[in-house]
Amino acid sequence: MQKRDLLNLGSLTSKDFSWLLQRAEEYKKDFVLLRSLENLSIGLLFEKSSTRTRVSFDVAISRLGGHTVSLSFDDIQVKRGETIADTARVLSSYLDGLVIRTYAQESIETWAQHATIPIINGLTDLYHPCQILSDLFTIYQKRGTLKGLKLAYIGDGNNIAHSLLLGGAKAGMHVAIASPKTRQPDKDVVKQAETLAAKSEGSIAIGSDPAKSAEGADVLYTDVWVSMGDEEKKAALVKTLKPYQINEDLLSKAKPDCLVMHCLPAHRGEEITEGVMEGPNSVIFEQAANRLPVQQAILELYLKR
Ligand code: CP
Ligand code: NVA
Repeated sequence: MQKRDLLNLGSLTSKDFSWLLQRAEEYKKDFVLLRSLENLSIGLLFEKSSTRTRVSFDVAISRLGGHTVSLSFDDIQVKRGETIADTARVLSSYLDGLVIRTYAQESIETWAQHATIPIINGLTDLYHPCQILSDLFTIYQKRGTLKGLKLAYIGDGNNIAHSLLLGGAKAGMHVAIASPKTRQPDKDVVKQAETLAAKSEGSIAIGSDPAKSAEGADVLYTDVWVSMGDEEKKAALVKTLKPYQINEDLLSKAKPDCLVMHCLPAHRGEEITEGVMEGPNSVIFEQAANRLPVQQAILELYLKR
């Protein structure tokens, strides 16, 4: 069987997407549902910090009966000049799958091109597909549907915004983005999302006015102002993104039962106020908890033999 990779949400079929939502629900109810990774070894190779993605994948692998090989770029010879192509070929002869967190999307695509095992994107500068699958699962569990819901993302036009655009469009949602003019989402990703939305009866609206995007929203979503790799631009980003905070005033523009979401880690008082983060609309910690059953479903789907 041809190996499959999860590098972004554009390539996920509707059938697989529906399957993942159902399966995650089953894993959430019964975490020992299936030991589909028995005798399999999965690598976790992280070039950036991680709390949720690394730990939820590690525990998911263990619950599915598999074995984790934890790696960092400091441990492996890539740091000393061995090519990704050679490393991917070698690791493919030991491992059955590899979750990678790295900087450039091109880099994870090179891994996928040379590996003969499934490669799963645990975050790049461009995308965070596993996070957004878990977010869509959270909304689906709360609302019983995704189609027709308005999701407003307020903040930096980054990896989270990009995966929300693709995932939301695929699910038939109305995705409204409010980002500063200098931090708008990538134009190619927006184009892809518009193509997907045209097929799913969803829609995409890209703007820079948080109040307009938040108007009547079913979901308000934000992310950190300073992503990993952007630390040198911190002062400028904090200044530019100041008007893009999810606070009580912005929340009042959304539907009264609007779900407030954040992928975490959060900086309270920057992109979100303490009051909104801990308030009745927030599903942020349930969203984080859902990473685990969703990773189980992702691993089962992509490592199926
Ligand atoms: N949301 C998320 O991916 O968190 P980590 O960076 O802690 O993995
Ligand atoms: N945009 C953030 C997401 C962290 C999960 C980052 O890339 O750092």
